[in-house]
Amino acid sequence: MWSPRTDAAAPLVDPFQRAITYLRISVTDRCDLRCVYCMSEEMQFLPKRDLLTLEELERLCGVFIARGVRKLRITGGEPLMRRDIMHLFRGLSRHLDAGTLDELTLTTNGTQLGRFAGELAALGVRRVNVSLDTLDPQKFRAITRRGDLQVVLDGIAAARAAGIRVKINAVALKGVNEDEIAGMVAWAHGLGMDMTLIEVMPLGEVEGDRTDQFLPLSVARARLESRYTLTPLPDRTGGPARYVRVEETGGRLGFITPLTHNFCESCNRVRLTCTGKLYMCLGQEDAADLRAALRASPDDALVTQAVVEAISRKPKGHDFVIERQRPAAVPRHMSVTGG
Ligand code: 5AD
Ligand code: SF4
Repeated sequence: MWSPRTDAAAPLVDPFQRAITYLRISVTDRCDLRCVYCMSEEMQFLPKRDLLTLEELERLCGVFIARGVRKLRITGGEPLMRRDIMHLFRGLSRHLDAGTLDELTLTTNGTQLGRFAGELAALGVRRVNVSLDTLDPQKFRAITRRGDLQVVLDGIAAARAAGIRVKINAVALKGVNEDEIAGMVAWAHGLGMDMTLIEVMPLGEVEGDRTDQFLPLSVARARLESRYTLTPLPDRTGGPARYVRVEETGGRLGFITPLTHNFCESCNRVRLTCTGKLYMCLGQEDAADLRAALRASPDDALVTQAVVEAISRKPKGHDFVIERQRPAAVPRHMSVTGG
């Protein structure tokens, strides 16, 4: 019978011998946009009193770092919408300086990058993922229900000017941006940015039917292949993306295909929500509530024990399916668990 190691600084290893070295932290479920595949028009957000404070989030990250986590990604919702979020980045940046953390990064919709790019770069953020599904201002407004494309493009420019590498994440949407994908690849690669295509995942209830949004990336990829030469790359980042080199542009293109592909064997990550719940898998319901352990004592022993216990329950994988007329496979929106 497998049992977790609980000795002082043992690394976090799950029952399938996967070392957990990557923590994603959703610092808010709120967002200034309302992307149609992500949120409903009238989202109910968490009351502010349910959130962990930034100090508590920082302390929790410290517990994970002490147990071998080497990479942190700050997500949301839109992480840069959380009040005083730079306070958290400043705290976490100290682990970069100390050499106990390899990478501090974030996933953002880009609307606030104009404001924060300089400070993020100064705090050691070297790369950001910017979610952007279209380069057409009208479509952008329709997909996000309110966004201004130019603000995001300016944010991307600000990040690049600050020396931050930008990767573009685009959700492939049937009948919406499918005709634009090749052009977006050319645009991103032309600016030296990698790009990743993502299939719509059945996370949280939204208006409409996700089967209408679902574009299999096998289809998108076949279309790209009529225009570009795609050479598979061996790079696996422990994450779900598979990469190709686009020979004509020289850039990298990733594919995240949770529905048609299984990538769970090499999963190295867990996800912390802004209320202190630890999800061992994006596609499963099981979570550990770390808030009580965190607040029970100023000493980290209890919360460390709760983390170790949670990792010992990390499931082997997810089983997403998009079927017509079915409720979402996972009731939580991406903005809760973090993208
Ligand atoms: N399916 C796929 N991607 C999603 N995102 C948000 N909700 C979904 C979903 N249901 C994406 C965003 C962003 C990242 C954080 O997650 O577009 O790129
Ligand atoms: Fe906001 Fe990202 Fe969700 Fe769009 S996909 S509503 S930008 S959290």
